[in-house]
Amino acid sequence: MIRVFERTFCMEKKYPHFIDLNDYPVEWWNKLMKLGAEIYAHPQRYVQACAGKIMATLFYEPSTRTQMSFQSAMIRLGGSIIGFDNPMSSSVSKGENLKDTTKVVSSYSDILIIRHPMAGAAKASALSADCPVINAGDGGHLHPTQTLTDLMTLRMEKGRLDHLTIGLCGDLLYGRTVHSLCKALSCYPNNRFVLISTPELRIPEYIIKILEQHGCSYTEETSLDHAIGELDVLYMTRIQRERFPSEAEYLAQKDIYRLTPEKMAHAKADLAVLHPLPRVDEIEAAVDDDDRALYFKQAKYGMYIRMALILTMLEMKDVPELLHGEQCTGLRCVNPKCVATHEHYLPHPFLMESGHMVCEYCEERALEEEIPAER
Ligand code: NCD
Repeated sequence: MIRVFERTFCMEKKYPHFIDLNDYPVEWWNKLMKLGAEIYAHPQRYVQACAGKIMATLFYEPSTRTQMSFQSAMIRLGGSIIGFDNPMSSSVSKGENLKDTTKVVSSYSDILIIRHPMAGAAKASALSADCPVINAGDGGHLHPTQTLTDLMTLRMEKGRLDHLTIGLCGDLLYGRTVHSLCKALSCYPNNRFVLISTPELRIPEYIIKILEQHGCSYTEETSLDHAIGELDVLYMTRIQRERFPSEAEYLAQKDIYRLTPEKMAHAKADLAVLHPLPRVDEIEAAVDDDDRALYFKQAKYGMYIRMALILTMLEMKDVPELLHGEQCTGLRCVNPKCVATHEHYLPHPFLMESGHMVCEYCEERALEEEIPAER
């Protein structure tokens, strides 16, 4: 039995945050992309736009593109940067929790960018931040600024975000970029999804539910060869060694998908090949010379859309609600990679999604537990 009880946490709405793209309407994303394109065309107009502002980057996980494109974005806007890219060189190594690190670093800065291995960590961090927080990847959950990068690339290179057949290939289970991108592209009309993975790395059920709720058609495929000819977009992903429970499970999955010039020969002439990068072996280097390979351009667009995002978040007046769920007894999040299972001081709300209660941090289905009878 589940018992809902009153909120024991009082959310003082102080700052806007960017945790999930879907916290904002599609018109807002479109406006952001328009601004990104404007900055791309006229970067010199923005060189003082963030003068005097400080951005902190808290990267608890490795990163090249996300971290450096954010840093470069802020520097190009005339602002300054602080932060760490190895938590072990900060007080995290002494056992400091996410709340305290956030509280202190956000008091030194005007905007905070966080990447963390736990699902829901950016939302958890935002609860105690004294400035806007941007999610730069929370475990295997979401990566909304990569999605903005992906959307901006499609907008600039294909000229549209609708009426597309989008193939997503590789690690659809742990790939946070895939989850965020599916959520976003399902909001544009007439997109069709071809989900190409092994049965072990199938996309999570909650993403399928989202596609269904938006009335998107989708098929699940195991063969890239079979699917490639019908695609307008091919989103390749890395098999992410660090997300697997064991090395053996990773080894069983690696090297299954490999995009080669031979496969590209069967693709449409205007296919767009995207990859969030880093690439390991899933795209052969020879494909880089094909005009349809857009992944390096994509990484560059990422910097411009992040400039647009930093500017927008610093100027935003609306402060949307951060937590929407209810605290309940009789429910437990069983995801070992959810922030709420590690940071025990956090309020733990749950939401009703398609008839099931899910954890508000990681969106995984919660487990119902017997509540001992009151004496
Ligand atoms: C991705 C990530 O970190 O989720 N990379 C990125 O941000 N550009 C994908 C990956 O690491 O494979």
